[in-house]
Amino acid sequence: MTPVAKISEVPNFGKKVVSVSGLEILLVNIKGTIYACENECPHQGSPMTAGVIKEGTISCPRHGYRFNLADARPNQRRRHPHRSVTEEQKNRSKRD
Ligand code: FES
Repeated sequence: MTPVAKISEVPNFGKKVVSVSGLEILLVNIKGTIYACENECPHQGSPMTAGVIKEGTISCPRHGYRFNLADARPNQRRRHPHRSVTEEQKNRSKRD
């Protein structure tokens, strides 16, 4: 285990970016539990430092994708859901 920061450096409900082996890691403190995730959104690489922390998730400031802090899984409840193109819309655009 490599210490990267003191707990006192990450305020409650706050964040801190550290560098580990050339990778930016975002530390998040929620009521004394420190979570760590890459500071780069897996969607289009936006920094997660401005992400909103809510109910155990962090949402990307760019498009609103949410990720669970405990396991990094995408959360289905996005703040600004992307629109998906349905098959009917695709076929309609081919006809037009
Ligand atoms: S870059 Fe993060 S949701 Fe798109």
